[in-house]
Amino acid sequence: KTVRKAVIAGNWKMNKTRPEAKALLEELKPMVADVKDVEVVACVPFTNLETALAVTAGTNIKIGAENCHFEKSGAFTGEISADMLAEMGVEYVVLGHSERRQYFAETDETVNKRTKAALEAGLKPIVCVGELLWERECNITEEVIARQIKLDFFGISADDLKKCIIAYEPVWAIGTGKTATADQAEEVCAFIRATLAKLYGADVAETITIQYGGSMNAKNAEELLSKTNVDGGLIGGASLKAADFTTIIKAAV
Ligand code: G3P
Repeated sequence: KTVRKAVIAGNWKMNKTRPEAKALLEELKPMVADVKDVEVVACVPFTNLETALAVTAGTNIKIGAENCHFEKSGAFTGEISADMLAEMGVEYVVLGHSERRQYFAETDETVNKRTKAALEAGLKPIVCVGELLWERECNITEEVIARQIKLDFFGISADDLKKCIIAYEPVWAIGTGKTATADQAEEVCAFIRATLAKLYGADVAETITIQYGGSMNAKNAEELLSKTNVDGGLIGGASLKAADFTTIIKAAV
């Protein structure tokens, strides 16, 4: 774990107008200004990116987008390319979130293409994987996760993998208030690392940041983040409150 810097990323989802985004980041800035050993990221709606970048310029808060398309440009009405994000100064991009997979028909194949496009543009992808409740009940969690890892990172070199973060988000724990226990999170994060070790070798796998996401909050963060293979968090609801998000960030120090 010592080789990996903790990364705490907020995923704002479809929340916050520009004035609200500015207010939240202005509030957060001084609260996390002294944090050095944790990478602090806010992934915000496309419409907030320019505001977020301006408000956080010169601070230790990095900005991410919540998705990007896999084509470079062209007739894809309503979509945003990786190059458009990189040009703005965006550093991270969330890809393959379960909400994208569930409501917008994204597949492992397009997540793979998006990850490649993001890497090519110089962005750092935060690639989300996770099982449905039904899959956990059927005891196929590991099968599902291994398949997602193999497909989402297909054709991606070890050097490029090292620029990626993997977020383990059990779908049944997202926005439900139902958190995976620290042991459940550790079990799957360790399994993800073992899967990466098979594909890329143990040395590479050891360097990859693996986050847990799903109802992580100010109360449960410390226990989850204390686990060997949980290197950070992808935070939804609790990232919309500066005090709660700060508590989570400080729990990772
Ligand atoms: O990407 C973060 C996420 O899906 C978790 O959301 O609200 O359960 O923290 P939440």
